[in-house]
Amino acid sequence: MSQIVTNPQDLDRMRAACKDAASILDYLTPFVQPGVTTGELDRLCMEYLTDELHVKSATVGYAPPGYPPYPASICTSVNHVICHGIPGDKVLKNGDILNMDITIIKDGWFGDTSRMYCVGEPSILARRLIDTTYECMWLGIEQVRPGATLGDVGHAIQKHAESAGFSVVREYCGHGVGRKFHDDPQVLHYGRPGTGVRLEPGMLFTIEPMINAGRREIRTLADQWTVVTRDHSLSAQWEHSMVVTETGCEVLTVSPGMPAPPEFATAALASV
Ligand code: MF3
Ligand code: CO
Ligand code: CO
Repeated sequence: MSQIVTNPQDLDRMRAACKDAASILDYLTPFVQPGVTTGELDRLCMEYLTDELHVKSATVGYAPPGYPPYPASICTSVNHVICHGIPGDKVLKNGDILNMDITIIKDGWFGDTSRMYCVGEPSILARRLIDTTYECMWLGIEQVRPGATLGDVGHAIQKHAESAGFSVVREYCGHGVGRKFHDDPQVLHYGRPGTGVRLEPGMLFTIEPMINAGRREIRTLADQWTVVTRDHSLSAQWEHSMVVTETGCEVLTVSPGMPAPPEFATAALASV
């Protein structure tokens, strides 16, 4: 069942969890430098969420059926890693691109968000992939309003990604969120307008497109978590958690340090 928030206090709790999750990404931003390891970023993240925010990591020990427990407080997905990269000894170098994905639990509510980071100067292709993927996420968000369908969301994302010559990962999707980490509905990042779940006020979910510079096929590494592009092309992802409002959408994982939304999305943001 999808998670629908009806009570204003509950929505405030969800807002607070999401705001804290986004603030962790702000906090980590200056540490993304050539020479830092992904393990160090995880250590900083764990320390900040525990000692400063007093919230819990939703990912440490997270073990959906068929998966070993996830060992870290963030996912660090570098270059051709699509998602669920496990922090460790990997040293970031100039030109790398990185997704950091954080999910926390505050007061029983889950806040889930991710962003792309560039280590030093990205290549022209990496910049275009990151920007296009950001636009994809916001084009999806723009579709969100009562009466629209998840097919409208997926279609907007797919169309923009493919017209840029990129491909959409099919095996992973956005999801219902709230009192649970991963719930219905599945928010596919491809689809046909007018199909799928119809949106209603109070629905809580994420939009988190994973877009590959090359082909869409994936491979999962032996650690059973890390997902990479089969052709080793670059991959990018951005993620927000949101609630459907009476008139549109409220993006919940906002923070002062997030990149400005594309111009076309200001209408969506104005409803925050
Ligand atoms: N935060 C991811 C998502 O957006 C899920 C990460 S699960 C983990 O749904 F165990 F890999 F951390
Ligand atoms: Co998510
Ligand atoms: Co996430």
